Amino acid sequence: MKFFLDTANIAEIEEGVSWGCVDGITTNPTLISKELAGNANFKTLVKKILDIVDGPVSLEVTSLSADGMIEEANRLKKLGNNVVVKIPTTIEGLKALKVLKEQKIETNATLVFSLNQALMVAKAGATYASPFIGRLDDISEDGMNLIEDIREVYDNYGIETKILAASIRHPVHVRDAALIGADVATMPFDVFKKLMNHPKTDEGLKRFLDDWKKIDKKKLMF
Ligand code: E4P
Repeated sequence: MKFFLDTANIAEIEEGVSWGCVDGITTNPTLISKELAGNANFKTLVKKILDIVDGPVSLEVTSLSADGMIEEANRLKKLGNNVVVKIPTTIEGLKALKVLKEQKIETNATLVFSLNQALMVAKAGATYASPFIGRLDDISEDGMNLIEDIREVYDNYGIETKILAASIRHPVHVRDAALIGADVATMPFDVFKKLMNHPKTDEGLKRFLDDWKKIDKKKLMF
């Protein structure tokens, strides 16, 4: 399973990449807008992200028409080879996915909320489909059921579009998405950090170090 960070924050990306566990990045207009305060500029920010990360970096189009999305996608792709273009799950989006597949530009169909949408974006040629788990949980639906359904149906038909579990809010989402077999989980840095938390690790390490301190220092020469 691949882990992507769902952020455009350079400090978070640098830190995550230094842990050796980040396979890629997803961004969206909300995340980018948070980082573009003051004099910052979109191209400079994206170039920095692309310099740090080897894996796929999703950048989202903001056009609503297929032609606009295709034109934006081609401009975004010029920023780096590892750019994946995020396309909204709409009918115009389907048209854009089809053309971008023909142009060999990798895509990420965003805002997937149903199995039928996941099937449609896959048929149109999306490289990734992004079901938003947390936003379904927010309206009292079970986001994880959707991941389970998509996995089953994609496997039934040998569909190659990758399932990118998105809108992840806590470590249990990551664990469950992994057990179901989502190809990727994208998560905020805060959730990524929490994946390593375990009180027994902290307690065990403290006990080892306390016991180590009891040894006569002269016996510790090596
Ligand atoms: C995915 O690519 C999206 O950027 C993201 O996961 C949305 O998450 P949110 O529902 O927490 O905003």
